[in-house]
Amino acid sequence: MSWINDRAPIQMKYYILFGPPGAGKGTQASAMVERYNLHHISTGDLLRKEIKAGTELGIKAKTLIEAGSLVPDEVVEGMIENEFKTVKGVDGFLLDGFPRTLAQAQALDELLARNGSEVTAVVSIMIPDEMIIERIRHRATIEGRADDANVDTIKNRIATYHRQTEPEIAYYDAKGKYYQADGVGTIEEVRSRIFDIVDKF
Ligand code: AP5
Ligand code: MG
Repeated sequence: MSWINDRAPIQMKYYILFGPPGAGKGTQASAMVERYNLHHISTGDLLRKEIKAGTELGIKAKTLIEAGSLVPDEVVEGMIENEFKTVKGVDGFLLDGFPRTLAQAQALDELLARNGSEVTAVVSIMIPDEMIIERIRHRATIEGRADDANVDTIKNRIATYHRQTEPEIAYYDAKGKYYQADGVGTIEEVRSRIFDIVDKF
């Protein structure tokens, strides 16, 4: 299959940047992208673009996002496949905020397998729940994201993470692909823990 642009599929790296809301996925993604020549795909960012553009998808996603719930699996799966097909000239992809359910994880595995590839590693940034609220409250004063604006939404995002996303840890751990970096510390400290993990691939 030819969708993995100009490289043999098997050479491409597929990293998943995993972690609860506010863990620092977006923050750490830029340094990773630069160091490893990756294309960053944040499904949250893609959905926020749809909302801003007022598309039909964006209108549907808005209510769910502002409630701290997930959008349907097939919506984000389609976005991911589209990015894989269209982005060229990179050594791999950095998935941020995807997969977020076991169904999405399985869909990703199937999509990559169909193209002779697989997830390279899951790099998890882990912070305690109390710190999530602190970091998101701080970001709310800077970025103005609608889902950061009220504490009930933030709490629901945390609950959604524990209920629907955390089971992926066991899923990837069983495949020997789960690597955890302590997310507590300065941005530079966390970055260097992540580099220690990813440099090995
Ligand atoms: P998404 O945009 O993915 O949000 P999230 O997972 O809740 O994660 P955040 O973006 O809030 O946190 P982050 O880990 O990127 O932290 P950041 O680096 O900004 O998803 C939003 C919504 O879209 C979802 O709730 C859902 O509705 C929908 N959605 C998205 N993907 C989906 C999917 N696959 N399926 C279904 N629905 C989906 O850092 C946070 C703050 O902390 C920043 O201010 C930062 O400066 C600061 N910070 C970072 N690191 C440090 C540090 N080490 N020390 C101090 N401060 C730090
Ligand atoms: Mg983010």
